[in-house]
Amino acid sequence: GQAQIGVTGLAVMGRNLARNLARNGFVVAVHNRSPERTRRLIAEHGAEGRFVPTDSLADFVAALERPRAVITMVKAGAPTDAVIDELVPLLDAGDIIVDCGNAHFADTRRREEALRKQGLHFVGTGVSGGEEGALWGPSIMPGGSDESYQKLGPIFEQIAAQVDGEPCCRHIGPDGAGHFVKMVHNGIEYADMQLIAEAYDLLRAGLEATPAELAEIFREWNSGELESFLIEITAEVLGHTDASTGQAFVDIVLDQAEQKGTGRWTVQNALDLGIPITGIAEATFARSLSGHAGQRAATRRAFAGTEPTWRVEDRGAFVEDVRRALLASKIVAYAQGFDHIRAGSQEYDWDIDLGGTATIWRGGCIIRANFLDRIRQAYDDQPDLPTLLVAPWFADAVRAGLSGWRRVVAEAAHAGVPTPAFASSLSYFDALRANRLPAALIQGLRDNFGAHTYRRVDRDGSFHTLWAGDRSEVEA
Ligand code: 6PG
Repeated sequence: GQAQIGVTGLAVMGRNLARNLARNGFVVAVHNRSPERTRRLIAEHGAEGRFVPTDSLADFVAALERPRAVITMVKAGAPTDAVIDELVPLLDAGDIIVDCGNAHFADTRRREEALRKQGLHFVGTGVSGGEEGALWGPSIMPGGSDESYQKLGPIFEQIAAQVDGEPCCRHIGPDGAGHFVKMVHNGIEYADMQLIAEAYDLLRAGLEATPAELAEIFREWNSGELESFLIEITAEVLGHTDASTGQAFVDIVLDQAEQKGTGRWTVQNALDLGIPITGIAEATFARSLSGHAGQRAATRRAFAGTEPTWRVEDRGAFVEDVRRALLASKIVAYAQGFDHIRAGSQEYDWDIDLGGTATIWRGGCIIRANFLDRIRQAYDDQPDLPTLLVAPWFADAVRAGLSGWRRVVAEAAHAGVPTPAFASSLSYFDALRANRLPAALIQGLRDNFGAHTYRRVDRDGSFHTLWAGDRSEVEA
């Protein structure tokens, strides 16, 4: 075989990745369970590069040079296991299977271990950037062995997005590290989107502005500290008019947010690791809440007439407060996400470079933003940074935005506008900076009803108070 890499699974993501590889000069073997898709790819895009179309998996594998590198781009879960089971008997020791789907990192760890025992490399790889990214340059997050990266690195680094001459691809770490980092990326993506949505909701209610007017505000924000792909497309979506009704597009879309599950995985895993990713959790729950149409209708009916009235006095100052609240809350979301990656890296022994992770999110992916360059710098300057919140640039931004952030959360509560992500991010910040937390009382209660013991501020050891007895203290 002479193809340098193969792609099986030619739905839009697989097809676009294959085209990206071919456009960059790699010889790409392509395969799809139903061969029509393969034929269509060749008919429509065959001239873009050197493809080797194949109808059977056996022909596909035979078309590859050794060590073989096979990208699977099929649905996460059972379809991924099915294609792996079919591939394994056709491969030889040292060959590489690359799963570029949104797999759960625990599945990736299981598959990597099973394939390693058979002498094969299994490389769970996060790919972000949607259809356009896959075609023109995604952010790529490969896990798996160092050895597999020797073959894959030069290929992936060439087809990835490039920022300041650096590819948005790097070896994240062994086994499931790549899919883990992609999972947290998606969690941050949920938080980022929820924060933008809350900002929009507040501005819309407070200013009584049209979506088209709000699009202008987001466009302006996109030239400052908030510059990012998601802010850019927010302006695009808000500025869009529905063709069939002539109404603002955002007003004809059903207000129930869906999810394919990566945000939920992030929150589930953070609970296991004990990392408070409250912004991401609120964003995930906000989507769930929006889908509970029956509860929403019943509550709206029961409380009709209780909507507060709201007047924004100084419109310019209000817009600036919301902008600063958005930036500060976004900093919290990223601080939490990077804490999560650090904890996962420790728990699963991955040795993930946080600055490096920020580096490859600067371009190609959904959360790409100028901001990521500052995160890179923060973790490169101080790899053991206790929290992103205290890195100089971020601490300055929070300090500068703090009074506006508080005003926005307070105003939202007065006005009855839900801001779960803004409010929880501010609470997270206030909790981290507090001198004393009421956790002391929680410990007292636990000791009272269950003799769960507590530690003291003035002495080492664990203690219990004899609550039902003479209330003397005993060392536990
Ligand atoms: C990306 C995206 C992508 C994800 C969508 C939809 O990085 O390109 O994260 O992988 O599938 O964002 O996710 P939800 O359906 O869960 O919103």
